[in-house]
Amino acid sequence: MEMINENVFDTVQLNLLFQKRRSVFPEQYVAGKKIPDEIVMQLLENANWAPTHKLTEPWRFVVFSGEGLKKLAGFQSSLYKKTAGEKFKQGKYEKMQTTPLLCSHMIAIGMKRSGSVPEIEEVEAVACAVENLFLSVTAYGLGGYWSTGGVTYVDEAKSFFGLNPEDKLLGFFYLGYIQTPSVQGKRGAVGEKIIWVKD
Ligand SMILES: Cc1cc2nc3c(=O)[nH]c(=O)nc-3n(C[C@H](O)[C@H](O)[C@H](O)COP(=O)(O)O)c2cc1C
Repeated sequence: MEMINENVFDTVQLNLLFQKRRSVFPEQYVAGKKIPDEIVMQLLENANWAPTHKLTEPWRFVVFSGEGLKKLAGFQSSLYKKTAGEKFKQGKYEKMQTTPLLCSHMIAIGMKRSGSVPEIEEVEAVACAVENLFLSVTAYGLGGYWSTGGVTYVDEAKSFFGLNPEDKLLGFFYLGYIQTPSVQGKRGAVGEKIIWVKD
């Protein structure tokens, strides 16, 4: 009888998944079309299986949908207006109010600091979780991207997302059904980023 190894996956499919994953921006979504929350939960379940040193599981997500997107739009635009100073741009302010409404969901990405491992390792673990989320989004035929724009690095934003001063807001994951796919991706040859040591 043939042995079935549960750890073997369809590598042809997987290679395609990694290489076809593309950032898909809100202007490319079917405006406001809702992804079922059960699917979003599955995407986040996959994110939750990221590697994590000492099992600190530092990723935190705040999921905005429906009226929640309006709440987020209002919060980020008014905080931007309050804190931008001389850098304030009316166009950016208006985009912060309107872009969330093009999405199905927006997910604030937080890093909850445990203190048990160096901070960079908790940021790295969250980045792994985001990549799990991103690849899952791709596998479901959905569009998304990770943004570190807006109020990501404004300290006053943290508490709105349930984060303490020692935690970090690492950006936002935008989600929607794809109307206009992204163009093919571009990368330099991997060979130029590898040093092999064999003997
Ligand atoms: C940590 C991180 C932050 C990013 N922030 C932004 C951003 O603020 N705005 C943006 O347009 N793209 C942002 N991106 C997406 C990159 O522009 C995108 O990954 C890159 O153009 C490569 O395209 P691809 O994701 O389709 O391969 C971010 C990506 C990462 C990993």
